[in-house]
This record gives sequence, structure tokens and C-alpha cells, in this order.
Amino acid sequence: MKPWLKPAAFVLCLLPLAWLGFALLTDRLGANPIEALTRDTGEWTLRLLLITLCMTPLRRFMGWRWPLRLRRMLGLFAFFYACVHLSTYVWLDQFFAWGEIWRDIVKRPFITVGMLAFVLLVPLAATSNRFMLKRLGRNWVRLHRLAYVIPALGVVHFWWLVKADVRTPLIYALLFLLLMLLRWRPLLRRLAPA
Ligand code: HEM
Repeated sequence: MKPWLKPAAFVLCLLPLAWLGFALLTDRLGANPIEALTRDTGEWTLRLLLITLCMTPLRRFMGWRWPLRLRRMLGLFAFFYACVHLSTYVWLDQFFAWGEIWRDIVKRPFITVGMLAFVLLVPLAATSNRFMLKRLGRNWVRLHRLAYVIPALGVVHFWWLVKADVRTPLIYALLFLLLMLLRWRPLLRRLAPA
């Protein structure tokens, strides 16, 4: 792997946050900056989850090694953006009104699903290191299958929050299905027998 690839990916992953910070400070986030922040960080979480899922098919179909080396960092960045997304909601949107937040989680299905996706991300982030990989053995692989469930929940979360125009969540749903299809064994046997 080229030595600059990981630092370059690291900087690239930070760019959306840098842009959001800059846009916030220079008043470029429109009439409702908090909503813009929540939406953008949510969308970047979903994008990074899907980009992470691209790494295995890239390795398999193109034969490159570098995607697997970037996978962990990309997954952790997805978690990082999920934390920022959740923080903007808890802090800037709800001002730590825990009662309201709990009511939202219980009563608004899109928040319930978003919260579930976040809760499932926590053990993945916590066990993403080599030490836990060795310690958990086969259970690590089982646990990390959640990496397929979480983006699906992210798509449902997005789909349920848009009132009428479902085009954008539909695009994410199709990308997710494509990434799942690229893992389907009969297809792999035909297209990329490794
Ligand atoms: C892995 C976890 C999550 C993912 C992938 C995710 C993804 C998204 C996406 C894609 C959007 C829509 C962005 C847009 O409209 O362009 C969004 C919006 C939103 N999410 Fe999440 N989200 C997650 C977790 C959460 C959690 C835990 C909460 C709160 C408990 C939450 C609350 C919200 C809210 C309030 C909005 C904006 C709704 C609005 O103002 O219209 N999300 N999220």
C-alpha cells in the first residue's frame, strides 16, 4: 500500500466536518443551521457506512489490497460522524432535554431506528482493534455482520424522515442493495472466483 494513502484518506474523511465548521462560522448553512448540521452529519454517516462496505468488493473484484487496510479507519469515521450527528441532535436541537429526547426515541419511528443504528455501531467501534479481534475470534466475525444491518437501518431512518420526496433515500437504498448483491456467493463464484 502506498504510504500516503492512509493519511490522505484520513484528511479526506475530515473534510466534510471542516467544511461544516467553516460554513457554520461564516453563516453559510442557510436559515436553519442546526437542521443543516444534523442533516449533513447524518448523510455523511450513511455515506461513510456505504463507502466502508465498498472495500471488500473492491478487494475481491479488482484484486487490490489497500481497500481492506482502509476499512477499519473508514468504519471508525462513520462512527465519528454518527457521534457528531447524535450530538447535534441532543445538544443543539434538544438542549439536553432528556425527557423530550426519550419521548422522541419512543414515539418517532425514524428516531427509534436511528438510535438503534447508533447503539449497534458502538460495539463495532469498540471491538474494531486487533486485540478484540483476537480475543473474540469467531464471535468477532459474527458481531461485525452488524455492519450490514446498520446501513440498512440508516436508510430506513432516512426514508421515514423525508415526508414526500424519497429520491435521495432511494438512491442510498439501491447502493446498499448493490453492495449486498456484490457479496452474494453465487454471483461471486461466477464473476470473481478467488
Ligand atoms: C448510524 C446512525 C445514523 C445514521 C446513518 C443517520 C443518518 C441520517 C440521515 C441520512 C439523515 C437525513 C439527512 C438529510 O436529510 O439529508 C438523518 C437525519 C436526522 N437524524 Fe439521523 N442517523 C443516525 C442516527 C441518528 C440518531 C441516533 C438520532 C437521534 C437520536 C438521529 C436523528 C436525526 C434527526 C433529528 C435528523 C434530521 C431530521 C430533520 O431535521 O429533518 N439520527 N440521519
